[in-house]
Amino acid sequence: MRMNVTVRGSREPRTVYEMVGGTVFFEDLTRRFYERIEADDVLRPLHPEDLSESARKNALFLAQYWGGPTTYSEERGQPRLRLRHMPFPIDGAARDRWFAHMKTTVEESEMPEEARIAMIDYFDKASVMMINREQSPPG
Ligand code: HEM
Repeated sequence: MRMNVTVRGSREPRTVYEMVGGTVFFEDLTRRFYERIEADDVLRPLHPEDLSESARKNALFLAQYWGGPTTYSEERGQPRLRLRHMPFPIDGAARDRWFAHMKTTVEESEMPEEARIAMIDYFDKASVMMINREQSPPG
């Protein structure tokens, strides 16, 4: 699914991809997001040793999702993100940490308010869809 948002008052619908300035925006966003993952003792162990590939795939996916080039699907096929996340144990707590890092990263980025709201809303809902394990009991 690709997302198009119409900016009020403009003659042409503009995608979020265009509003934020294109591919470099998503490369920068994912680079800063994965710096946070690198430093997170819960989320870091779920990820491969080299996070640069993770950052690259995520940037391609997000660029595509928000209306940019379809390079992600040309390389990887249908996103099917829930399925692709199945090998990684994602419970509610892991999701909350993931979303907190992404929200902060989005809040620290320059972009029109309309794009920011759309992105945070998307990450909030889509990250819940990735939960694939019961919460581990405390202790
Ligand atoms: C909006 C929510 C999310 C989006 C859009 C997203 C996006 C992606 C994408 C595009 C990939 C690469 C898939 C591929 O192989 O082509 C990926 C991989 C991965 N994601 Fe997510 N993800 C989300 C939520 C989460 C959450 C909540 C977690 C864990 C708490 C998580 C952990 C991982 C891990 C461990 C990988 C595999 C290793 C890697 O390639 O980094 N993701 N994600």
